[in-house]
Amino acid sequence: MTAIRLHPDNRRIDAPAEMASFLDDEGLVYRNWDVSKLRGELRDNYALTEAEKAEILATFEGDLETLKAEGGYVTADIVVLWEKTPDLETLLDKFRREHHHTEDEVRFVIDGHGIFTIRGRSGCYFDVRVDPGDLITVPAGTRHWFTLAEDRQIKCIRLFQDPAGWAAIY
Ligand SMILES: [Fe+2]
Repeated sequence: MTAIRLHPDNRRIDAPAEMASFLDDEGLVYRNWDVSKLRGELRDNYALTEAEKAEILATFEGDLETLKAEGGYVTADIVVLWEKTPDLETLLDKFRREHHHTEDEVRFVIDGHGIFTIRGRSGCYFDVRVDPGDLITVPAGTRHWFTLAEDRQIKCIRLFQDPAGWAAIY
């Protein structure tokens, strides 16, 4: 389960209903999908083969198709950040700089943890901690940055409206 921390006063929101309503007011989509549908090796293993990636995507095909129809997403893939990711520190340095994208940033967490820091509509920043089962969409144009949590690894499904246009604008 995710949790939200508001920067101005460190207030935490972790009651599911309050969290959902806060994220909805900020224009973020939040869902929780059942990761226990995946066999354990697909969750724990970070060195996935192409066949295993396809199996993960196939397991969530129904949920993904619904979300694609709702948000105009056309492709999905799997992204992994862990100790063996080449140039992990360089990548994290990039992700930790405030940026936005011209399309939504959609992440469904299969394993591991991460923290999105998002500039809210009022200009105040808040952290959204994402855990396995959490799906979040950061809308196009929303300023944000991302970092890993204490376990320093995450495995996610990403969805794209236009894979050719995916870039960070700092
Ligand atoms: Fe981003």
